[in-house]
Amino acid sequence: MEGGVVQGRGVVRSVSVAPMMDRTDRYYRAMMRMITRHTLLYTEMITTGAILNGDRAYLLDFDAQERPLALQLGGDDPQELASCARIAEQWGYDEVNLNVGCPSERVQRGSFGACLMAQPEVVAEGVAAMRGACALPVTVKHRIGVDDLDRYEDMARFVSIVAEAGADRFSVHARKALLSGLSPKENRTIPPLRYEDVYRLQQDFPELVVEINGGVVSLDEVEAHLGRVQAVMIGRAAYDDPYMFAEVDARFFGDEAAPLSRDAIAERLIEAAERHMSQGGRLTQITRHALNLFAHQTGARGWKRAFAQLAHKPGAGPEVIEAALAEVRRQREREVAFRARSGAGDDPGAGRA
Ligand SMILES: Cc1cc2nc3c(=O)[nH]c(=O)nc-3n(C[C@H](O)[C@H](O)[C@H](O)COP(=O)(O)O)c2cc1C
Repeated sequence: MEGGVVQGRGVVRSVSVAPMMDRTDRYYRAMMRMITRHTLLYTEMITTGAILNGDRAYLLDFDAQERPLALQLGGDDPQELASCARIAEQWGYDEVNLNVGCPSERVQRGSFGACLMAQPEVVAEGVAAMRGACALPVTVKHRIGVDDLDRYEDMARFVSIVAEAGADRFSVHARKALLSGLSPKENRTIPPLRYEDVYRLQQDFPELVVEINGGVVSLDEVEAHLGRVQAVMIGRAAYDDPYMFAEVDARFFGDEAAPLSRDAIAERLIEAAERHMSQGGRLTQITRHALNLFAHQTGARGWKRAFAQLAHKPGAGPEVIEAALAEVRRQREREVAFRARSGAGDDPGAGRA
């Protein structure tokens, strides 16, 4: 079928954008959907406590166009996880995912996140409770290890126990987490990537859907990983260069419809900002995620500069995005003129934008 293969409870989507706090909110996701229709998107991690006791509509509402969309939960109490899985299904999410990879201190104090890798039985109980409470795929995001529990065999044991409970996919950040001494940011760079451990996991558990994550920055790399595992998850690169996903639908999901150009996306963002602000929203909720739309293109600097200078001003509105796009186009024209004068040939920026 177009878009993925059915396995277990869900469709296996071979590419996803990783959950990222303060980044993969609904405004970022709306922009990503202008770029790729089929990539699986995630919410930021939301704790079970926040969902059960907080402003549920604020935390969970999303636009139908953001689907397929997974809700990522942080928590360890089976009953609470089950309640949140039920709510996720009622809210219209396509998947519910449990975070067993976050090393932050705040998360450890709540005794969930990466430290749960040392307690596979607790994770299994949570997964079983979630599966019993809803018909959605229930998936787990974890690390290859934590602290001294970092041998391949430790991860394989974790996965086999949690798989027994019915987890529909294992998304593995191919670095161990060190729970003391490293900040969350350092935990995403300092422990070395061990892709071979993730490949071996897929090989040893061919019936499971294994997704690799960590350090993937290009679609060629995605393709190479897909020879060894069933899916690839991209985090930071999807934020630093969102338009790299423009080729994903054709390359990995068999959908040949032409992607929107960067300029067309900028124009859609103007319309989105008009709608958003007419409902009382702030411009920067949209523009902050669009800063890298023109990454590595002629005009990228002008685009960013316009936002930096104008988007925070009182009364700033969609015209800021118009001004930024006009700046991109001016920079392109200047480059064309410069190349024509120096006899350097075609403009590289306009063709790609
Ligand atoms: C700013 C930021 C916030 C993150 N927040 C979450 C989160 O909420 N839940 C989670 O499971 N991982 C979170 N991560 C980790 C990513 O999902 C991903 O595992 C990690 O960045 C490695 O992938 P990458 O090298 O492709 O970025 C976050 C990463 C970043 C950079």
